Amino acid sequence: MSGTTSQLQVDGKTVDMAIKTGSIGPSVIDIGKLYAQTGMFTYDPGFTSTAACESQITYIDGDEGVLLYRGYPIEQLAEHGDFLETCYLLLEGELPTASQKADFDYRVTRHTMVHEQMARFFQGFRRDAHPMAVMVGSIGAMSAFYHDSTDISDPHQRMVASMRMIAKMPTLAAMAYKYTVGQPFVYPLNSLDYTSNFLRMCFAVPAEEYKVNPVLSRALDRIFILHADHEQNASTSTVRLAGSSGANPFACIAAGAACLWGPAHGGANEAALKMLEEIGSVDNIPKYIAKAKDKNDPFRLMGFGHRVYKNYDPRAKIMQKTTHEVLNELGIKDDPLLDVAIELERIALSDSYFIEKKLYPNIDFYSGITLKAMGFPTSMFTALFALARTVGWIAQWKEMIEDPSQRIGRPRQLYTGAPAREYAPIGRR
Ligand code: SDX
Repeated sequence: MSGTTSQLQVDGKTVDMAIKTGSIGPSVIDIGKLYAQTGMFTYDPGFTSTAACESQITYIDGDEGVLLYRGYPIEQLAEHGDFLETCYLLLEGELPTASQKADFDYRVTRHTMVHEQMARFFQGFRRDAHPMAVMVGSIGAMSAFYHDSTDISDPHQRMVASMRMIAKMPTLAAMAYKYTVGQPFVYPLNSLDYTSNFLRMCFAVPAEEYKVNPVLSRALDRIFILHADHEQNASTSTVRLAGSSGANPFACIAAGAACLWGPAHGGANEAALKMLEEIGSVDNIPKYIAKAKDKNDPFRLMGFGHRVYKNYDPRAKIMQKTTHEVLNELGIKDDPLLDVAIELERIALSDSYFIEKKLYPNIDFYSGITLKAMGFPTSMFTALFALARTVGWIAQWKEMIEDPSQRIGRPRQLYTGAPAREYAPIGRR
């Protein structure tokens, strides 16, 4: 897509730069030739004003609170579709027909088992290892078990690796959970849908039959849809950068999972629930609001704020509705954490600090309450986020690899260190 040009005056020189216009959203100024023409770099450490790529997958309007997957509003996908349909959409760019959906479900279902020796790989971890440490390790280890789908120049191998990761991530996440609770791994069951299969692999035990609760399975499937992709967030950008060097797909997704683990990103759901537990009761909320506003206090309201959303995160609204659905299904009448979350949101949204800084609840604010009610330990929340985000990472990685203009990503810097100087022997220092 192209538009007009912009001009930059640097040291008395005028530099023309093309303005490229997308289908919707902000245009971009192509600065690709800036260094060659001026000897200067642009400077944007947090990438607050930088578009790192062109993409057709996900669109976010942070001011309007809009999220589109391939043009479809997240609210409609969450309401009417299922997670594997969203996976197909993100990967292929169009909603599947009935036969395409059936074929996709069939192929994913038949790739859910992992190489039996991966079970032995897990035995190397301490039982008290954080599930994300196990996930990052085991996703990376997939390149040691699936050599026949690591050649990124082969479209067939790229497709096989993609299907393997989407299909096996629930199995790996369930194994990470079972390992930390000391229970035997549960094999996938092909007769179950994707999310019901995951719930059974997590919560079934050999000693008795396990019946999947369809309301909880539908709720978790919707939660996966909400987490599937989100434009060029930190973990997706990590996957793209890792992929730009030609690293194999499993290594790239492992890098994305490692980045997602951070509390400022996908680790926020775990941190948000711990924060709600620390607050404990609505009486303590004012103290924590004051801490969040105190410049000298590093405390932040976890699950609040977003780099892009300066309005309510549309996923948080759907998340909140799902929370009530799950608590009702489980007969949890008054969850003290939910009471704290609702009151904290009410107070924060009426506080001038949060209003001025446009801090709203994000997807991580309510997810923890829902996942805890479903029986997941707090330490598993980010692993569930990684499970769902795998398809987004893969779709973005695939788009990058298939872009003929793709080059290795290699940012530059503003150097403020020591200028060149002579080495001094130790006796003269
Ligand atoms: C995810 O990018 C994505 O799309 C991510 C994600 C996805 O789907 O991939 O949406 C998933 O990561 C959601 C965000 C989860 N993180 C949290 O909930 C952690 C708490 N939130 C913050 O750490 C923060 O809001 C970020 C990291 C989410 C955004 O950081 P920014 O855009 O760099 O904003 P900032 O840190 O520059 O904050 C702007 C101002 C600052 O005050 P000033 O320095 O301007 O005075 O707002 C304040 C911050 O102090 N602020 C907060 C706050 N978040 C920002 N103050 C209190 N509590 C908070 N949560």
